[in-house]
Amino acid sequence: MAREQLRLVLLGVTLLSITIIFCPCGLLLADFGEPPRLLVEDNGASHPLRESGGISPRLSAGVPRPLAGANAPAEAGAAPAREPAPREAKAGVIAAKAGISRADSGGKEAKQKMNIEVKPFDQTPLGEKVDLYSLANSHGLKAEIMTYGAIVVSLQVPDRQGRMDDIVLGYGNLTEYLAKNPYFGAIVGRYGNRIAKGKFTLDGVEYSLAANDGENHLHGGIKGFDKVVWKAEPIKHRDGVGLKLMYLAKDAEEGYPGNLSCTVTYTLTERNELKIEYLATTDKPTVVNLTHHGYFNLTGCQRDILGHEIMLNADSFTPVDAGLIPTGELRLVKGTPMDFTRPTPIGDRVGSDYEQLKFGGGYDHNWVLNGGGRVLMLAARVYEATTGRVMEVLTTEPGIQFYCGNFLDGTITGKKGIVYNHRYGFCLETQHYPDSPNKPNFPSTVLRPGEKYETTTIYRFSTRKAARLR
Ligand code: BGC
Repeated sequence: MAREQLRLVLLGVTLLSITIIFCPCGLLLADFGEPPRLLVEDNGASHPLRESGGISPRLSAGVPRPLAGANAPAEAGAAPAREPAPREAKAGVIAAKAGISRADSGGKEAKQKMNIEVKPFDQTPLGEKVDLYSLANSHGLKAEIMTYGAIVVSLQVPDRQGRMDDIVLGYGNLTEYLAKNPYFGAIVGRYGNRIAKGKFTLDGVEYSLAANDGENHLHGGIKGFDKVVWKAEPIKHRDGVGLKLMYLAKDAEEGYPGNLSCTVTYTLTERNELKIEYLATTDKPTVVNLTHHGYFNLTGCQRDILGHEIMLNADSFTPVDAGLIPTGELRLVKGTPMDFTRPTPIGDRVGSDYEQLKFGGGYDHNWVLNGGGRVLMLAARVYEATTGRVMEVLTTEPGIQFYCGNFLDGTITGKKGIVYNHRYGFCLETQHYPDSPNKPNFPSTVLRPGEKYETTTIYRFSTRKAARLR
């Protein structure tokens, strides 16, 4: 009997020890699943992310690495950061103006309603009707998206005091977008960024595209996807409200082969994210590289972006020539002003005496994401200390174009009469590398009939108390 009691006591002690050792880990893991709350500030704790999404067939060749060994991974990029699998309800069409109650998303603090509304915006000179959709999540984030160019016209997110501000550059009306738009907020396609001399050869056939950037082809040509009217369908996700935008690019349009059927879905999620899902299919072999060209300014467009701290999860970048065409090299960032593996203010080294910065007039380069192009992972994090706003970029793409608004020069006056001076906005365009159709060592951008082009990018917002970016 005494022996039995002793055995039970020993068992109890063992169980207690196991609980003490593993319970905190269990709690931490449980925390990982919690969506971020809007007004509860991110106090600088890292954001553990988990996996979702698969690999697009055209990415299966993987991402080339620089010849020399990679740097030690950055703190945020140490392990491939992965995103929880989205638990989306079957998307269904909802009537415009139909509010979706917070209860739909399973939340408890039913303060506001997820909502989507539509109103006529204007029409193009060809008489095409352009609508403006307003999306809101239950935390008060708001996005306005118009059907012309699939452009995000405004994006309201809170600062650390809960004050909402519009953090993207753009105009308040269609006329100004039509007159002069350096791709503010637009979806760029069929090929984001440059193709050298507007030429590429696919399956032995040479294709010629417009030279709309000196001798090179930029952002899909003269009338790229940023200048067409998309068909729109509001949708409801369990995780947020969204807008599905569809465009059929015709065979030979802007010189590209194949009818390309594109769907871009924006979702304003209950995790305070603007999620963008891209889908395309073709009826002839072609090249595709779709991206979003939002210009962000986390101060709420109060001043330039030089004080924003940025971290890029990339040990190397693709150097360019004077025409901003990649040379084909993958160069390690270590020891150069291109090293953003540690969070660094944009303005700290942008004026450095470094040839690549002279060519770009500042940062205007493609960074090669560590482990990128396979699953959804953290690509960049930006922090603005005066407002506490944090923006994270997650993507399934292998590269990211960090452009710091070098061509803004004060000649554009945007929403609310704000003059967009030099470096007043920055872009983080997730993508395949520029000029990939002419660079066999870069991940392929070829899409063939029967294949699906599928990529996802997320811009996630939170706030932080401390001025330290982790
Ligand atoms: C390009 C820049 C260009 C800007 C606006 C960026 O994606 O890399 O060179 O000036 O878009 O067109």
